[in-house]
Amino acid sequence: MDTETLAARMIGESASFLQMQEHLSRLAPLNKPVLIIGERGTGKELVASRLHYLSQRWGYPFLKINCASFNEALLESQLFGHEAGAFTGASKQQKGYFERADQGTLFLDELATTSMAVQERILRITEYGELERLGGNKPIEVDVRLVAATNIDLPELAEQGKFRQDLLDRLAFDVITLPPLRERIEDIPVLAQHFAIQMIKELEREFFPGFSKTAAKELLDYSWPGNIRELKNVVERAIYQSEDPQEPIRTIVFDPFESPYRPVSQGKKSSMPRPGEKEFKQQVQDFEISLLQDALRQSQFNQRKTAKLLGLSYDQLRGYLRKYEKEIN
Ligand SMILES: Nc1ncnc2c1ncn2[C@@H]1O[C@H](COP(=O)(O)OP(=O)(O)OP(=O)(O)O)[C@@H](O)[C@H]1O
Ligand SMILES: [Mg+2]
Repeated sequence: MDTETLAARMIGESASFLQMQEHLSRLAPLNKPVLIIGERGTGKELVASRLHYLSQRWGYPFLKINCASFNEALLESQLFGHEAGAFTGASKQQKGYFERADQGTLFLDELATTSMAVQERILRITEYGELERLGGNKPIEVDVRLVAATNIDLPELAEQGKFRQDLLDRLAFDVITLPPLRERIEDIPVLAQHFAIQMIKELEREFFPGFSKTAAKELLDYSWPGNIRELKNVVERAIYQSEDPQEPIRTIVFDPFESPYRPVSQGKKSSMPRPGEKEFKQQVQDFEISLLQDALRQSQFNQRKTAKLLGLSYDQLRGYLRKYEKEIN
């Protein structure tokens, strides 16, 4: 198997995606840390694994750890390991992720959540290639390439004194920023097709009948806050729910929680008009205004999308916006 096969495929054709891929290929063979920035579901983990499998280190371990899943003490012992008796419950010596990833790549996910103390230890390892297990006193040499990911603006965090500037300088040898899906809508059809075909195979159906025109357009118009992971889920759901495998996919459910029986949250309840407080008409208008405002925000003030979200025609929406011109602007 060659390394290109080991590295999971990434699909996309948009200019920003191709640019990012080129950046990734140039960066992969270097023995330098990489920082990956991107919204949830944009493919940060996939990029980290490609960086590893397209590098000289591909035959050695690729380990990942989500820094947000552990409290500080546990994270330290996970990352750096501990000697027997280092703390209550540490009955045996244990190697940490850094040691186990020796010669390979360590992917630190959600790096922004780490404490300053952990950041300082990480910095020491990247500077000197040496670590000490908790409760240990002899330095252990490690050769690990660090790839870290976050969806938080680290320079800003550093400015606020919540992230070590020296570690940031060190990790940010180069930064790959993944564009959100709504900024590269050309990729939506290719990705949708890719996930659809995978699902068809999984369900052992014969062929993929395609999406209806309206369904394809709905996929394009949606804003995809959960990015590629969300697209994958939406497409897979649409395929398995379609009843006739010969017919194009017509129904797309974006929100699986949508139901008339969905419990109403406390926050939403209190924004519902309460009878008796104001005139009936005023309450209805307030409610209409808040629905319009929410929908506008959700569609990033694109009026066609807003109309669609509310199930109104474009002209109807324009009518409402004129009616509430003062309140909404
Ligand atoms: N370009 C792509 N082509 C094919 N599949 C992709 C692509 N980008 C991401 N995916 C898939 O989308 C899903 C989410 O990707 P991944 O887990 O790498 O995102 P992430 O940025 O790490 O998300 P999170 O911030 O939530 O951890 C995975 O199933 C991944 O395989
Ligand atoms: Mg991830």
